[in-house]
Amino acid sequence: MEENLAELERDSVSAIAAATSPDELEAIRVRVLGRKGGALAEISKGMGKLAPEDRARLGKLLNQAKAAIESALESRTAEFESAALTARLDAEWLDLTLPPAGVKPGALHPLTQIQQEIEDLFRSMGFAVLDGPEVEDEFHNFDALNIPPDHPARDMQDTFWLTGGWLLRTHTSPVQVRGMERYPLPLRMIAPGRVFRNESVDASHEHTFYQLEGMMIDRDVSVGNLIYFMQTLLTEVFHQPATVRLRPGFFPFVEPGFELDIRCLICGGSGCAVCKHSGWVELLPCGLVNPNVLRMSNIDPDKWNGFAFGLGLTRLVMMRYAINDIRLLQSGDLRFLNQFS
Ligand code: PHE
Repeated sequence: MEENLAELERDSVSAIAAATSPDELEAIRVRVLGRKGGALAEISKGMGKLAPEDRARLGKLLNQAKAAIESALESRTAEFESAALTARLDAEWLDLTLPPAGVKPGALHPLTQIQQEIEDLFRSMGFAVLDGPEVEDEFHNFDALNIPPDHPARDMQDTFWLTGGWLLRTHTSPVQVRGMERYPLPLRMIAPGRVFRNESVDASHEHTFYQLEGMMIDRDVSVGNLIYFMQTLLTEVFHQPATVRLRPGFFPFVEPGFELDIRCLICGGSGCAVCKHSGWVELLPCGLVNPNVLRMSNIDPDKWNGFAFGLGLTRLVMMRYAINDIRLLQSGDLRFLNQFS
């Protein structure tokens, strides 16, 4: 019996060591330690017939064998568990030292950026920043700006007409009129905003774009004042001294009216494709406020005069960043917009 016991212990321990899965271990446990029909149980059954002193000695040996087998099972089980854990950690490996994937904060549209820069500059020179409606009436968009109904200048700007005499403003100039209606003189104001023209869209034309209107009314305003403010504006926008020149231009609400050119920033004036080899780039229309416009807003042109300009904000952004297709600006395409964040 003692030999049987020793053999059982030896065999069991080596089977446990050789087991390749937890299932196999469980089968060994049942076969050896199982209460009913287990090999140890069978041996202890036979103990009843032994003499008391033999029974006591054998009982001790039996308990030792059981403990040895149990501990072998336990440590082999622990080995399987730790192997399973290692395998799982390998499979689900996570590098906690990596930086997070990153949440991109929003950024201002390039048009908004340039608009805010110009607003800051003009505010610092005593100008108010005004807003006006995008749906306008004929009076503010045309008549009060010295463009009566049959005036050919109405055709210069293809208008989106709404019903009831309303229209989408074709320029920011109606805000000049609203400024004069509302505020006392002297008046210094700018008015950035969206304007609309009924045009077919291509790389350089959009039905919707941005302008920034400016107006100053005071005593003895001269073309020299106009040039000073325009030079200051463009130096700020392009971060380099700007050289400008005036050519005659026609707009019913200014007299004299001008087209203001800037010396080409690409070639410095020697001539290139951007300035069509003239050394100058046409940038913004401007002029001294037509006395008729002042009169229509109940301002006495013998006491007051002023200048006005209409900056194409969209055009300016395109020049500053060398953007060759106007449609990109309102495309909402993040590949384009992310370049300005
Ligand atoms: N409102 C004119 C336009 O959009 C531009 C302009 C503004 C011209 C102010 C002169 C003075 O065409």
